[in-house]
Amino acid sequence: MEYPVDTSLKPEVTGFFDPATNTISYVVKDPASDACAIVDSVMDIDYAAGRITYEHADELIKFVQENGLKLEWLIETHVHADHLSAAPYIQEKLGGKIGIGEHIVTVQDVFGKIFNEGTEFQRDGSQFDALFKDGDTYMVGQMPVFAMHTPGHTPACMVHVMGNAAFVGDTLFMPDGGSARADFPGGDAGTLYDSIQKVLALPDETRLFMCHDYGPNGRDIQWETTVADEKAHNIHVGAGKTKEEFVKFRTERDAQLAMPKLIIPSLQVNMRAGEVPRDKDGVPMLKVPVNGL
Ligand SMILES: [Fe+2]
Repeated sequence: MEYPVDTSLKPEVTGFFDPATNTISYVVKDPASDACAIVDSVMDIDYAAGRITYEHADELIKFVQENGLKLEWLIETHVHADHLSAAPYIQEKLGGKIGIGEHIVTVQDVFGKIFNEGTEFQRDGSQFDALFKDGDTYMVGQMPVFAMHTPGHTPACMVHVMGNAAFVGDTLFMPDGGSARADFPGGDAGTLYDSIQKVLALPDETRLFMCHDYGPNGRDIQWETTVADEKAHNIHVGAGKTKEEFVKFRTERDAQLAMPKLIIPSLQVNMRAGEVPRDKDGVPMLKVPVNGL
């Protein structure tokens, strides 16, 4: 696949860190207009209390409004397992279309079974406004951007490339953080390695924006690096590490990882494009499948 790369376009990128889930959400502004996109928003949840609030999303909304921006897209890099998307809440206030990779249908099928969803749960991605195929382009104002299919962490993962800025989702972490796990249903370490190579084939100067950072070894939180930096220094895939080395390491590491704290609510909400499921009486309700994951 030849991707329509254009690093002469330099969008303004503002990151918003959510300390509860170590997620970074972004507002990306077209350099030639007031149009913008939001990538990977977060809805706050106190899971023990079953309480959902919107402090993080309100911060994004305030930024868009105060800067006089027009929201055109709400992009999900994938179905997150560690935080809930606030896309519908933001869409209600600011407009914009919610987009995700077309392989969301695979994720909906797998987790629709695990959560024993009834026939009212559509497995065709219709909860989203746009489903992207590999190489699909769309506009943010006058800036053409494209989506690159990067499975491995999950089947529906996509990296969105907006000019010289690429939003890598959970394909890569900062160089000292390595890569994301590949052991969720539909994940695969070898596939993830191949997807990472696609990202690293972008021009060296491409700015890479992480979806997560955990501040390894006590360093401050960071979320921006470059292709050149990842190629040279990434501890899992940089400096010429082979696919065999990566798969062995990733598989051994994943076997030791606990499930993310918010995986149960996150999947149920995010596979519905950020809508909280409802029970037969229409009451917002989350399930816990016992020994299902
Ligand atoms: Fe993820």
